[in-house]
Amino acid sequence: MKAIEYRKHGAPDVLELNEVEKPTIKDNEVLVKVYASSVNPVDVLMRSSRVLSFLVSRGTKITGSDLSGKIESVGRDVKSLKKDDEVYGFGQGGATAEYVAISEKKVAIKPANMTFEQAAAVPLTALTALQALRDKGKIRPSLNVLIIGSSGVVGTFAVQIAKSFGAEVT
Ligand SMILES: NC(=O)c1ccc[n+]([C@@H]2O[C@H](COP(=O)([O-])OP(=O)(O)OC[C@H]3O[C@@H](n4cnc5c(N)ncnc54)[C@H](OP(=O)(O)O)[C@@H]3O)[C@@H](O)[C@H]2O)c1
Repeated sequence: MKAIEYRKHGAPDVLELNEVEKPTIKDNEVLVKVYASSVNPVDVLMRSSRVLSFLVSRGTKITGSDLSGKIESVGRDVKSLKKDDEVYGFGQGGATAEYVAISEKKVAIKPANMTFEQAAAVPLTALTALQALRDKGKIRPSLNVLIIGSSGVVGTFAVQIAKSFGAEVT
């Protein structure tokens, strides 16, 4: 399959279009045919920094984390997804390729009213906002929430997610 890889760290011109082996799935993984992926700051950091890449990478040198696409096959322990499901999700590297093997837990069904391109722009930044508000902030309807940086990538999701929990959002 074709994939965008970096074989050394550095500026964007270290990225290469290469022919690589199609991934095989583990029992808890699905094989996704990638239709779209997006670029997040973490992808830039992993490409440019050997240290960060070592700390957070799954070992792949294929860039890109957020993706959307269609499931081509599922591992034998996968319960919630099946072949041809349209999904979006977040891996740690590997997304700018024709196929990605990814844990069932790291993808979800793509809403039918979103394009693949729109869906691929959601996972990491929206999950950042969701984790901050729900898991760390224990958001609930009675709370007043002040979102600083609401015009930013994470902020625009945070405004909408906080509102959906019924909080008063400033
Ligand atoms: N993007 C990701 O994938 C991601 C993932 C995990 C964590 N994060 C973290 O989440 C935070 C936001 O990231 P982002 O990607 O949403 O950044 P972003 O798109 O660049 O947005 C930054 C936001 O902060 C505001 N801002 C910047 N300087 C400010 C200041 N001095 N006072 C008040 N507001 C200020 C900006 O306002 P203006 O529009 O007016 O400039 C904008 O709304 C960062 O700490 C980042 O490290 C990001």
